[in-house]
Amino acid sequence: MHQIKSTLTNQFYLKPAFYSQALAENPAALPVNVEALLVEQAGRLAVVPTNGMDLQRFAQMGLCELEPLPEPRPILEREWGGEDFDELFSNYEQVVWQVRFRDRELVVVHVQWVSSCGFQSRDWVIAENSDIADEFILEVNRKTHAPGEAILVFSDGHWRRSEALYQAIQDASFEDLVLADDLKEIIRNDFRQFLQSAERYEKLGIAWRRGALFVGPPGNGKTHCVRALVKELGIACLYVQSLSHHYFTPQQMWQLIFQRARGLRPCVLILEDLDSLVTDDNRSFFLNQLDGFEHNHGLLVLATTNHPDRIDSSIIDRPSRFDRKYHFPLPTLSERLDYLKNWQQHLAGETGWNEDEILPLAESTDGFSFAYLKELIISAVMTWMQDTDAGFQNVLEGQVSLLKKQMKTEA
Ligand SMILES: Nc1ncnc2c1ncn2[C@@H]1O[C@H](COP(=O)(O)OP(=O)(O)OP(=O)(O)O)[C@@H](O)[C@H]1O
Ligand SMILES: [Mg+2]
Repeated sequence: MHQIKSTLTNQFYLKPAFYSQALAENPAALPVNVEALLVEQAGRLAVVPTNGMDLQRFAQMGLCELEPLPEPRPILEREWGGEDFDELFSNYEQVVWQVRFRDRELVVVHVQWVSSCGFQSRDWVIAENSDIADEFILEVNRKTHAPGEAILVFSDGHWRRSEALYQAIQDASFEDLVLADDLKEIIRNDFRQFLQSAERYEKLGIAWRRGALFVGPPGNGKTHCVRALVKELGIACLYVQSLSHHYFTPQQMWQLIFQRARGLRPCVLILEDLDSLVTDDNRSFFLNQLDGFEHNHGLLVLATTNHPDRIDSSIIDRPSRFDRKYHFPLPTLSERLDYLKNWQQHLAGETGWNEDEILPLAESTDGFSFAYLKELIISAVMTWMQDTDAGFQNVLEGQVSLLKKQMKTEA
């Protein structure tokens, strides 16, 4: 729509190919060229570019019908999920979708390419007019924003949905977690109450946000507890896997992380191994985001570390940042007893492991973490299966000595 009557633009005229020529040496020319091709073909139809639409999920949710056009032939890449998820996953690299949305027809052209910043992609929505395209883009983003039955994982500078991690978390439970005294109940109540208290916080004029740090040596249930909590709380969960990226700055990275989290509140943001995520280079940007109080309403930040000494005092000693620290130390005798009892009940039928033999075993495993106790049981079962006459108790004792030696070398 031209409103301004200008004589200057008659003297100063740029050719339609201006951008693609100007950017010819730059990867940015690629989307410009795609758009030019689409506009040429579209005639009176609107061509609207957009980024990051999860169209397939929108269709899976039953909110539109979707079919790839056979021409130009879509490029559907297959990727093996690795040993853990031994199946093929498909991913459309290039595709033209035919879409039916609320009795309207649209076309979405998805193009992917590689630049120096890694994989890039863009979608172009072709519609009767740009209002229809905008309505569609807005609705897809609104409806697919929440992760649903998935965890959002941040790595390579972007968020992706992980249904596999969500499933793994559904297997975690507080039931088989052994913690000192009533720590388990304290932690559960802390977070449950927090989530139920939005109004009360508001009345009292206190920011409704919470940060907790799980501290302790490896293998004593920090991650197990985080997972059981995420499952129990049932709110959106965002998990930061890595901050490394060769193009984005740490400032941009923390911005991307907190921006997404803010859009999903109430939600829980998981920062495992906080000491390696927050370093001297990026600490100030992290604190900037964490301290944005009014914007972090409804944000729960759950961090873990086994190196509290490596975390700057501005983070660890300021209560407004991580309000609570929960400790996960090596198990005491009574906790080792509880843990081994659970296993004994589980294995007694098969192995003949006797209840009377638990106490001496618990006594002999002073200094073992829960992860080492678990390793002890599993390696004992495996050894015993090769020679079931050996007697399970004897095998356990042998494994205790072996693991003690291993722990010494590791130390
Ligand atoms: N307190 C516990 N009660 C029951 N099982 C536990 C406990 N602590 C650890 N385990 C078991 O040991 C294994 C390792 O535990 P987890 O991953 O939670 O340790 P972590 O504290 O996160 O260690 P790291 O600091 O190395 O990340 C898991 O299989 C977990 O179920
Ligand atoms: Mg862990």
